[in-house]
Formats: sequence, structure tokens, C-alpha cells
Amino acid sequence: MSFQISFTIVELNSVSESNFYTMFEIFTKDNAVETAKNPEKAVSFLRYKFSEIMYYSKFSRFGDCSSSLDNYGKAVKQITEEFQDISGKTRGESYSPGIMAKTDAENLKGFVEYVDPSVVVETGVCNGISTLSILEGMEELESVLYSIDLPESPSSDEGDFWGGKGGSVIPNKKAPGWVVPESLRTKWNLILGNSLYRLPEVMEESGEVDIFIHDSEHSYEMMMFEFCLAWKHLREGGYLICDDHKWNSAFSDFADQKDITKYKLGKLGLLEK
Ligand SMILES: C[S@@+](CC[C@H](N)C(=O)[O-])C[C@H]1O[C@@H](n2cnc3c(N)ncnc32)[C@H](O)[C@@H]1O
Repeated sequence: MSFQISFTIVELNSVSESNFYTMFEIFTKDNAVETAKNPEKAVSFLRYKFSEIMYYSKFSRFGDCSSSLDNYGKAVKQITEEFQDISGKTRGESYSPGIMAKTDAENLKGFVEYVDPSVVVETGVCNGISTLSILEGMEELESVLYSIDLPESPSSDEGDFWGGKGGSVIPNKKAPGWVVPESLRTKWNLILGNSLYRLPEVMEESGEVDIFIHDSEHSYEMMMFEFCLAWKHLREGGYLICDDHKWNSAFSDFADQKDITKYKLGKLGLLEK
């Protein structure tokens, strides 16, 4: 029993007060009384819950990164209006605007403001919500954004994507990022094409990258490809952000291979080089 107690004390020392209570709550909720009849089981259960909580904790030194978005409401209204007339499926998936959730977009803007990057690279623009958020975050900064997108529209051929693409489309006759206001476009470079071919070119051209954001094709292969390449070009202390990081195990596997901590910013997965 002394082993179990010392494990708990040592590891609990690094848990914040609120995390400790969340942990305690989960521990008691999930029938821990039953589990506790077997001390070894109780300890492995607690260790598992502990690592889950640490994984999903916001990294305290980022503070509250959220920053309110000036153009989000208007952009979503424009997208909603266009999508009233869009219905159908692509590779069995219903057409969708594929937009980043508002809280994630707010975190993204705030994080860009916090990091004050010179170079940001993102993959996956679609209608442009994440792009707009990054560019809003850059408004007062000397930064540049490279965005790569291989767009799909309801009229395009559906064969060009691997699995993990989902049904995200832009309306016919619109360009990727069409909701990004003119006033935000001066720091923006949009590169059209498959990330598989465009990302290596962009990484060569952009020099050292401060933040890389993946939101293109969430196939395991594509995510791993983008993460490995981006990691090479990220500066020491730079950040890799992944939207939908729980879509498959690529984000988690990559972090484990590098033996680095996974953080969560809202629904975004975050790694620091
Ligand atoms: C989920 S949407 C991006 C949503 C966007 N980040 C936002 O917040 O509004 C994914 C986008 O990535 C594009 N895409 C998918 N596979 C790609 C690939 N291999 N290379 C480049 N873009 C790709 C899709 O066509 C789509 O425009």
C-alpha cells in the first residue's frame, strides 16, 4: 500500500487544484469504490485518469488565449445563406461548410496574438473561418500566413482525395477563403493544390515556421505526412496545431514518437517543439 500512496503523492504534487477535484470527481463517479477493493486496480485506474486529465488540461502558461472575433458572425451568415441551396453527397458524406467551431476559432486568433509569429502555415481553408481567425490575430503584427487548400465544390469531381476528407465543400464559383474580408488579405498567401505537393514547396519558401496548423485531409497518412514535414521546418519553441485531433490516432502517435506532451486548446490539439 505504501507504493500506491507514494505514487499518488508524487504525481498529485503537479496537479492543479481544479484538476485535482475533477480527478477526484471522476474517480468517485466511475465506481471507484468497487475498484478500490483491489488496490492495484485502483492505482492503475487513477494513473489512467490522471494522464487523461493532464492530456486534456489547458497548458496554464498559455493563459486564456481566447480572443473575440470581429468577422465571424458575418462570415457564418454568408456561409449559411449559400448553403441553403447546397445539398447532396460526396463519397457518401453530406456536403458541409466544414467550418471550425467558434470557440476553436477564438482560441486560434488569441493564440496567434499570444505567440506573435513571423510565419504561420495552415492547410485546409475551405470557406475560410480558420484563415479569417488567424488573419484577425495578425492584424497588429508583422506576420505572414501561407494557406494551402485543395478545394472541392458540389460540381467538382469527387475522386481526388484520400479518406478523411469528409464532406466539406465551398459553393460553386467561390474561391477557398471567400469569406475573408479584403482588409485582412494583405498578409495572406493562398496556395491551391494538394498539400502532399504544395506543403514541401511552401515550407521551402517560407523559411522557419512559428505556427503550423493542420485542418486539411484528416487521413492518418496525410496527417503524419504534414506533421513530420512541418516539424522539420518549425523553429525551436514553435507550435503544431491540429484541428479534429481525435479523428484518428495520428496526432497522439506523432506526439508519442517525439516523446512530447500533448496539450489541448479548446478542441485543438497542440504540440510545442
Ligand atoms: C475541414 S475543411 C477546412 C475548414 C477550415 N479550416 C475552416 O475553419 O473553415 C478541409 C479543407 O481541406 C481541403 N483539403 C482536403 N484534402 C486536402 C489536401 N490533400 N490538400 C489540401 N487541401 C485539402 C478540403 O477540400 C477543405 O477545403
